[in-house]
Amino acid sequence: MANVVVVGAQWGDEGKGKIVDWLSERADVIARFQGGHNAGHTLVIDGKVYKLNALPSGVVRGGKLSVIGNGVVLDPWHLVREIAAIRDQGVEITPETLMIAENTPLILPIHGELDRAREEAASAGTKIGTTGRGIGPAYEDKVGRRSVRVADLADATTLASRVDRALQHHNPLRRGLGIAEVDRDALIAQLNEIAQQILPYAAPVWKVLNEQRKSGKRILFEGAQGALLDIDFGTYPFVTSSNVIAGQAATGVGIGPGSIDYVLGIVKAYTTRVGEGPFPTELTDADGQRLGERGREFGTVTGRKRRCGWFDAALLRQTCATSGMNGIALTKLDVLDGFETLKVCVAYDLDGERLDYLPTAAEQQRRCVPVYEELPGWSESTEGARSWADLPANAIKYVRRVEELIECPVALLSTSPEREDTILVTDPFAD
Ligand code: IMP
Repeated sequence: MANVVVVGAQWGDEGKGKIVDWLSERADVIARFQGGHNAGHTLVIDGKVYKLNALPSGVVRGGKLSVIGNGVVLDPWHLVREIAAIRDQGVEITPETLMIAENTPLILPIHGELDRAREEAASAGTKIGTTGRGIGPAYEDKVGRRSVRVADLADATTLASRVDRALQHHNPLRRGLGIAEVDRDALIAQLNEIAQQILPYAAPVWKVLNEQRKSGKRILFEGAQGALLDIDFGTYPFVTSSNVIAGQAATGVGIGPGSIDYVLGIVKAYTTRVGEGPFPTELTDADGQRLGERGREFGTVTGRKRRCGWFDAALLRQTCATSGMNGIALTKLDVLDGFETLKVCVAYDLDGERLDYLPTAAEQQRRCVPVYEELPGWSESTEGARSWADLPANAIKYVRRVEELIECPVALLSTSPEREDTILVTDPFAD
């Protein structure tokens, strides 16, 4: 297997950062293919904590090429600050180690402002609970053909005309929302200034990656968010604005779908969600509280408390199918230590009918009642386990039952944030 795609299989925050970091040691290139700095990836390496938003997790490993693909929306000011912060931690980032696709659309300050203004203006029930970082409005401008893209930064005349085109749309919208019109000249000046810091990293990523692939280099595609936040297959409209599922890896960098050899889904041993929207197995009782506390479930980007619930195998079956998962990495099993009984959702009851998937219609989703299977818990600690032999019998039973229910095998098991605390079953990069 040469190229591996890693995607979140739930609502994000499954612990992708650690797994991507673990796999990146075996890869030559690490590429982001969707999302933006709404993602928050925490890496713990030798006790040192790195927090990344827009940068691919590969940057903290020396000798790798990190790539930001065209499927991403990029806030250039945020990126420059993130690079500075990571450099302060002793990590070297140069145009040899970081490449940004020239056709990547930019997130401008007007996108964040619009995102936040809309959320504030939304009535109860229509709020999405976004990260407020301008992701949605930036993707809207991409499909609306009015983005400023990385390549536009190289020419002042083109840049000004791109900004004018965007403002033709944004100024009337801002007037409607009661926000001041954009100071065109100030925005262009800001962009011309940041251009000098972004352009050195700009490259025809599609070309570089195709060449790398032909020369036998291993590419790791790093997903952000999770499949249930996918713009098409997620719990719409409470989703992010990009395709999150594995197929996006190809279009998000400009490589053929046949270049993807293995899809690894990252799956938390229970379920969490930040932001609004349906969550059939959500727990608002002491068990939910306990999952949140033991799992330290607070958003890395917004600091918001995550909603917590039991493992939903019906939803997982769905995301394993839409991403074509070859295997999963199961994370945070240790958070379940000490529960007497564990519940797993295996199907839904909709008005007396048993469904093995979550229907698309919002009204039906609201009426779906989870059908649970109960499994015995374990009292021993699984934290830091490095082999199956270290796991209690009931923990192994839980993992095996999860595999059966979601119809996808466990390739990796992560038992703490430390990279060494990982049980390898199948190496996604194995030839
Ligand atoms: P947006 O991506 O900021 O537009 O937010 C849309 C939805 O996706 C909200 O529910 C966010 O909480 C959620 N979301 C976006 N990025 C992440 C992430 O990295 N982890 C978890 N949820 C996310």
